[in-house]
Amino acid sequence: MSIQIHVKVNGVNYNHDVEPRLLLVHYLRDVLRLTGTHVGCDTSSCGACTIHINGKATKSCTMLAVQAEGCDITTIEGLANNGELHPLQEGFKESHGLQCGFCTPGMIMTSADLLQHNDQPTEEEIRVALEGNFCRCTGYHNIVKSVQYAADKIHAAQKNKKEAVV
Ligand code: FES
Ligand code: FES
Repeated sequence: MSIQIHVKVNGVNYNHDVEPRLLLVHYLRDVLRLTGTHVGCDTSSCGACTIHINGKATKSCTMLAVQAEGCDITTIEGLANNGELHPLQEGFKESHGLQCGFCTPGMIMTSADLLQHNDQPTEEEIRVALEGNFCRCTGYHNIVKSVQYAADKIHAAQKNKKEAVV
């Protein structure tokens, strides 16, 4: 038996018939071929599969595809804007926040959710936000610096925008 789902992913509408047991992460990777969302564990603990559902960071291995019916989803592939890297993508590049890069999409999607609500997080707040994301390479210091880089860039852009309006 399969069930039809309708989802919007990175601004594109999709309709597919899926098995009720199909995990959302496998729908994204195997059906839509959006392989930037990774699978790093089978215990919902590594965060490599993090995406945004209706704007909120969510581990896509913890949901069935059918549970995403009607949702607006963003994956790492949808984060750049008109070919311009998101400040977090730039931050991970400039501040050496990645080595093998396996955890990076999940780290970025979790951090993007944080920065939507708090564009000047403390180091402690960044570390708390990333508690559910594991990195096996970097020791986390440069990941935190990468998020701080993005926060500073976003904060400066918002300040400039406000000054331009005044
Ligand atoms: S694959 Fe989802 S938390 Fe590890
Ligand atoms: S950069 Fe390799 S797991 Fe994080």
